[in-house]
Amino acid sequence: MEQQEILQEIPERLLRWYRENARVLPWRDCPEPYRVWVSEIMLQQTRVEAVKPYYEHFLEELPTIQALAEAPEEVLLKLWEGLGYYNRVRNLQKGARRVMEEYGGELPASFEELRKLPGIGDYTAGAIASIAFGERVPAVDGNVLRVRARVLNDAADILDPKTKKLAEQQIREIIPEGKAGDFNQSLMELGAMVCLPNGPAKCGECPLAEICAAHASGTEQELPVKAKKALRRVEERTVFVLARGKKAALLRRPETGLLSGLWELPSVEGKLSRKQAEEVLKAWGVLGRSLRPLGKAKHIFSHVEWRMSAYRVDVLEEGCFQWVNREELHEKYTLPSAFKAYFPEIERIFDEGPEQP
Ligand code: ADE
Ligand code: SF4
Repeated sequence: MEQQEILQEIPERLLRWYRENARVLPWRDCPEPYRVWVSEIMLQQTRVEAVKPYYEHFLEELPTIQALAEAPEEVLLKLWEGLGYYNRVRNLQKGARRVMEEYGGELPASFEELRKLPGIGDYTAGAIASIAFGERVPAVDGNVLRVRARVLNDAADILDPKTKKLAEQQIREIIPEGKAGDFNQSLMELGAMVCLPNGPAKCGECPLAEICAAHASGTEQELPVKAKKALRRVEERTVFVLARGKKAALLRRPETGLLSGLWELPSVEGKLSRKQAEEVLKAWGVLGRSLRPLGKAKHIFSHVEWRMSAYRVDVLEEGCFQWVNREELHEKYTLPSAFKAYFPEIERIFDEGPEQP
């Protein structure tokens, strides 16, 4: 069957399911444009459950576009504290100011105009235009791309912009008259509640199971394909487990960037040879007596992956470090779990180190 023929089978089944199964969410019972706008910005990069407690509070404090436009930045950031990606709320306010200046304080009622506002991309413009204004435009996010890939058993890379463009065209054609907002949300809802991203899809309770090509061929867990998965930067690092008597060395990380302001095991970028490692130690004001290579380890952050190698080194000098004994480390300091692989070696220092360095 042609892809479009399969997709045509979706709306009736999915809308029937959605009427009975849609979660009651605060922006659904009253899809007023400003409320939908705020919800969609909060829902970028953040799950529904995490958004809920912030949403009503935000609207109580800033109930109108005008209030948002006029809010001091520190009020704005406080309302967003814990949601992360603070540029979202900064752009939201820029948008509110534009709406005050250029649209008389009313959010424009079309995809094309919404798309021009800061922080509003194709997905968000489609979501607001369809949910708040009933415009028949698609709102294709990761959930929707996953459902589409599975229903069609399509192995096209969903990170390829061409796949998204095609998905938008195809879905535009099947949006039922007068039900654009519900239909777009029903696709997102299926992706969030049934056709799950992590862990097995709940095909047993899926209204699309009988038309789903991936389910028919048992390939649902292999889809969607994300070819450009390795977007995360890989960084080689060399970690030093330094011992001075029964104490281990910690350093504080810079106030900005990854793990900012936290304690760490002394570490540097790059995979250092023994000779290079000795140079680093010298620069730190210690002379390593014995460098013993430890095992490799890796840790995955959101935008970078650390591939770590390590040396255990016994030193006499204090250098520039914070030296901690077992009790201090456990009671007082927090060492990020990125260094977890080397925790046993630290315990060995506490257990086996000499009383005097
Ligand atoms: N994710 C983003 N927008 C959503 C919506 N309106 N409903 C459910 N999940 C969403
Ligand atoms: Fe997803 Fe399974 Fe439903 Fe297909 S049948 S859409 S794989 S949950």
